Amino acid sequence: MKKAILNEFTTLYRFGIPFETDATVFEKNDLVFEKCEKIDYFSIVEKENSTTLNIKLSNDDKVYGLGETLGSLNKRGKVYRLFATDDPIHTPEKDALYGSHPFVIISNKFGFFIDYPGEIIFDISYTKFDEMIITINSNNFDIYIFDTKKDIEVVREYLKLTGKPYIPPKWAFGYQQCRWSYPDAETIKDVANNFRKRNIPCDAIYMDIDYMENYKVFTIDDSKFPNFPEFVSEMKNMGFNLVPIVDPGVKIEKGYDVYEEGIKNDYFCKDENGEYFVATVWPGYTHFPDFLNPQVREWWGEKYKLFTDLGITGFWNDMNEPSIFFVPKTLKEYLKKIDELKEKEVGLEFFMIKDEAVNLSNRREYYKSFYHNTPQGKYSNDEIHNLYGYYMTKATVEGFEKIIPNKRYLLLSRSSYAGHHRIATIWMGDNMSWWEHMLVNIRMLQSLNLSGFFYTGADIGGFGSNSSPELVIRWMQLGVFSPLYRNHSALGTRHQEPWAFDEYTEEILRNTIKLRYALIPYLYSEFFNSVDNLKPFISPLFLHFDDEISKNIEDQFMVGNSIMAAPVIQPNAKGRYVHLPENKWLYWKASNHKYRNVKVYEPGDYYIEADLNEVPIFIRENSLIILNEEDINYVNEKPIKELTVIGFVNNSAEFTYFEDDGETYDFNSGKFAKIKIVVNKENNRYNFEVEKDESEDFVSTVERIKFEIYDEKGNKHTEIIEI
Ligand code: NOJ
Repeated sequence: MKKAILNEFTTLYRFGIPFETDATVFEKNDLVFEKCEKIDYFSIVEKENSTTLNIKLSNDDKVYGLGETLGSLNKRGKVYRLFATDDPIHTPEKDALYGSHPFVIISNKFGFFIDYPGEIIFDISYTKFDEMIITINSNNFDIYIFDTKKDIEVVREYLKLTGKPYIPPKWAFGYQQCRWSYPDAETIKDVANNFRKRNIPCDAIYMDIDYMENYKVFTIDDSKFPNFPEFVSEMKNMGFNLVPIVDPGVKIEKGYDVYEEGIKNDYFCKDENGEYFVATVWPGYTHFPDFLNPQVREWWGEKYKLFTDLGITGFWNDMNEPSIFFVPKTLKEYLKKIDELKEKEVGLEFFMIKDEAVNLSNRREYYKSFYHNTPQGKYSNDEIHNLYGYYMTKATVEGFEKIIPNKRYLLLSRSSYAGHHRIATIWMGDNMSWWEHMLVNIRMLQSLNLSGFFYTGADIGGFGSNSSPELVIRWMQLGVFSPLYRNHSALGTRHQEPWAFDEYTEEILRNTIKLRYALIPYLYSEFFNSVDNLKPFISPLFLHFDDEISKNIEDQFMVGNSIMAAPVIQPNAKGRYVHLPENKWLYWKASNHKYRNVKVYEPGDYYIEADLNEVPIFIRENSLIILNEEDINYVNEKPIKELTVIGFVNNSAEFTYFEDDGETYDFNSGKFAKIKIVVNKENNRYNFEVEKDESEDFVSTVERIKFEIYDEKGNKHTEIIEI
């Protein structure tokens, strides 16, 4: 083992010769290593082909991190297996999901990141309460130790190491509608018309696998989309961004250009005998592009031109763990077994074949049996398994740099590795329309934000199983604070578009979505602010407040610096318990973005009311939030001329509103405007200051600021300032 000191807080410990993963952004050639024997906090046991790291935990230690994993926010009490897996049933005992983010914070002590792209198992207070046992399936890996007691500094060190979070276009802060099984252009147009007709804002409609010709990637089924370019521009004119899905498996079919090109150039993964590896996914038998090969990435990235040439800038890369339904040989063996049972009286065997069918998918042996040709040599997929989704996404992004330079894009991937947050983002995969999954959504929002995925979200309303009106209402209310605000559901399940239930539900959902749109100036400004400061946008309370209770709260979270969200996630509830830390809070029971129903709370613990049509919003003492109260159908429909500032100010508060073109990276070269808004209270009178900072290149559209400031008695003070 050797070590290199990176800075005051961060030391890299290197075991063997690790695979260079792309997770970090610093120049590794400059490292100066020295030999070392131990790592503080860890005891290490190196075995043949695996390494175990052990950390002693005290009773009170809190462990956070691990990005996209199930379980509580404090990760103690469970085993987590970081091995990208397509598992659509997220029940509590499951140990693996789609991504791998091996970054951990031991609160008030230190943090660490294990840069290893194969399987890592974290047993955190599961086998032994006072231990974290980490098993790395290798002797070649890097560990970075972040030696600071301040949790926020640990997060910042991790983000300095792995890069600033990605920033999507502004329209991606709008509401997005998805469903697996919008079969054709007519259906999508109908969905779009419904939004506009019913006066429900929406910015994006997704196109799931249904749009392709026999699920062949980079094809469009002409019979369902007879004039695709015209359809895209019709949607664009209505203010909708289309977001097509892209799957990695390339159908084996003579004459299909993507397949033929891949074969001609030797772009697909092969097995140990040098034969192309065959996996079955939606289109049937497929080959997997070897995204770890830079030439393959170049080829793949340019394929998105099919869409970007028509102005499409939103995509979701799915199934890239990669998901494998089965390989032809295992299915044949399975079918043979069933065949043998045909003439028998089947009892117990029924259970065996039933389970075996499920276990045909995503078997470990499949991943061990195909290989990648990387610039660092040949590796089995199993050894670098967790990188496949990242490298597929890197292929996409490298393509975008050429085909849509300087255009921001919305790019979701299902699988990801540490560092992925720098180039794109993820959604949380196939959840269910279960109340329990709202809590999973909230916890994961926080732990993914700790790992740099500031813009992320779950399938709102739940993907699998059937939703109810109340569940969708409460979930859409939670979604008001979710950076990615996308309602998605699976083929065969109950529809959950805002109008899918009844008029009462539709009315609440209309108001909920409008509330989200009103909050976009706040969310967008705070998002940029979070990225600049490397401070999670959606943040656990423990990063903001020092009291002991806040450290254990998992179902409330900060959104930027001024808002605390406390969503109602229980059925038939008319409110919930909340913890209000440190200072006074202004509770806005928001049933409508134009109607204020507010009450001041002293710090403490309360049961607060929130009827089915009310979204709980807590505004921190001495802080401001910014609204756009104008009704809009989509984010970029009209320039924002008037801002409403709602504040809860007992001394002074300030907020900086951020504005740019919302779709390029020109903000990096100064093309943006900022409006600094300050509210001071002296002798029971309020002073308002507004300072516009704009450049010749970018002029703000805002002309007027309306203030609505509440004092500690809940009294409202208003003012209008023309700027
Ligand atoms: C799996 C994805 O997780 C889901 O979101 C999608 O709808 C289906 N694949 C079908 O493409």
